[in-house]
Order: sequence, then C-alpha cells, then structure tokens
Amino acid sequence: MNTQASKLPPVDPACVAAVERIGGTITPLDPIGAQVSGIDLASGETPPRDVLDALELEMARRGFLAFKNRKAIEPEDFLRASCWWGGRELHSTHGVHPATPGGNRHIFRLSNDRRHGIPDVGPQWHNDGSFTPATFSHSGYHIIRPAEHGGGTYFAHQGIAYDMLPDARKERWGRLSSVNSASGVVHPLVHEHPVSRQKCIWLHLGMTGAVIEKLPDAPGFRLLQTDELKQLCHAYNDILNAGLAQGYAVAYEYEENDCVFIDNLAVAHRAAPEAHMPAAQQGLRIMHRSTVRGVKDLAPGFELPLYLDIGAASPFGEGVWQGGGLGFRWDDDIPMQN
Ligand SMILES: [Fe+2]
Repeated sequence: MNTQASKLPPVDPACVAAVERIGGTITPLDPIGAQVSGIDLASGETPPRDVLDALELEMARRGFLAFKNRKAIEPEDFLRASCWWGGRELHSTHGVHPATPGGNRHIFRLSNDRRHGIPDVGPQWHNDGSFTPATFSHSGYHIIRPAEHGGGTYFAHQGIAYDMLPDARKERWGRLSSVNSASGVVHPLVHEHPVSRQKCIWLHLGMTGAVIEKLPDAPGFRLLQTDELKQLCHAYNDILNAGLAQGYAVAYEYEENDCVFIDNLAVAHRAAPEAHMPAAQQGLRIMHRSTVRGVKDLAPGFELPLYLDIGAASPFGEGVWQGGGLGFRWDDDIPMQN
C-alpha cells in the first residue's frame, strides 16, 4: 500500500487547458500516471498536435496516461491512437496469436487463457523492445476483457527511482551498461530521459546477458561477476518494488474499455502476479498491446558500441556473458518469460 504522498508535481496547467479546449479532462492518478477522459478514441479524429504534444510531455513526466472510454474501442482505433506518440508508427516484433482480430500483426494479444491470447508474458520488471537500440518509445495496453477478480499491470517511475538511490549507488550505476541477451544491444543503466530530462534507471530483468562496468579510476571495462550481477538485479527489483509503498509505482487495475499508454523510457512495468493466475480462478483476462517505434537510440556512454556479439567470447574478460533467451537468471525461484 502506498503510504507516501505523490513525488510528482501536479499536471501542468498548460496541459490541463489544452485538453479542456477539445472537451476533455486530465487528472493526476496517485501516485503516478494521469487519467484522460472525454477524448473519444473511436471518433476517428486526431486531436491537434499541440494537445498531443502536451499529453506526451505529461506522459514523460508522470509515466503513463489512462484513457477512459465509455464505449468499446475497435482494435484499429487503439492502434491509431498508439501512433500519436514517440516515433509515430508501430514497431511490432512479437508473435501473433490465432485469436487476434483480423490477424493484425501490430496487436500482441495477451491472456490468462492460452486459447484467447499468449499467457505468462512479462512477470518481471522490464521495458519493452530492449533488444533494439532505440527500444520502443511508447507501449499501449487496450483491455479487451478485464478479469473479474483483478490482474493488472505494475508501473514504476524510473526517474523517481533514480532519485531514491544513495549517492554511491548513483555514481556506480552511472558507470554500468547492460547487454541484451537476445541481440547484444548495449544500453546504459542510467540515462537522461529525452523529454523530461530526468535521470532514469533502466534494466531488463528478463533479457540481460551481461553488465559492463566502466572502471572508476582507470581506462577500460570489466564484467560483473555472478554474485555482483545477482546483487544488481535484486537491488534494481527492490528499488522498483519499493515504489509501491513509497509513492512512485502503482498496481494499475484496468476498467472496461481502458486504453493505457506508457512512456517506455520513463516507467518500467511488469504483469501483476494476479494477471497470470488461471481464468477459472481470476476470471478471463484479454489484453491487446501495441508498441511504438523509438525516436533515438538509447546509446551507452564511455564510447561503448551499440552492439556487442553476445554469442562470441567476452571482450572484457571473466564474468557473466550469457547470450540467448532470458539471459542471466538472477533468481531461480521466480517466473521469467518475455
Ligand atoms: Fe512488456
């Protein structure tokens, strides 16, 4: 339970005014995110660019926007609205479940019943598209059928999480870069958000094959060893989980017709444990996810390359260097699936 007041400033009055001008409202959610009502995603109309820019800025600051819709939204309307943000086009790399409407390859259909969608996706904190250099700028979640007994998504604000780190950890994490286990793409563990300019932490807990440390007092790099990488992943997991009690993460429960859009560089997410419980127990849950092309490479510092060959021998000597699939298993007792 959240016991702290929100650590975010109020919604920018300029954004409130812009949304009201087109007949909508935007109100902050506690402790992160904001809710948008009165913008009909099914109308076929695109709000003026200045309104979308104001919403996108607010999404970067608060992490996500939940669009509340009074009536059902067609898959095409959801995909169209997804393209209001970031790279302004869909970037879809996922499998297509047979129950996907029209076999639309831009819809990643998720469910707690494998007849209706792909089960068990994303149980640990992550950001989408971390196997690409730019990652996805935004992701969308359109609830097709919320489960009667709950099962939403956790979102954690990675800028506030950075602020919560002790100074020594800020300094050390600022010298770390992760290597994606599937692609070898290299990303910084700390980056400056391109829109909010906040420093944010960033690590995929289900697809990291190595973490490289820039040496503090000498040129060169080293790899984190097994125990160090376990500690890092646990510390990262802990700091995001702590947001649920300390006011920078939320367990979001979907209501009928909700479309949630997240800034994929500002918030990490994971499925709530209830989301993966059987439909017979929890009620049937069906969700469509969209992913939006990134704008700029999330490039590592220290002149590290964008890609390393994680399938070849480590160029940094001994340490964890593990290509393929889920990458490094930092805890044997937790579910992992991308
Ligand atoms: Fe995800």
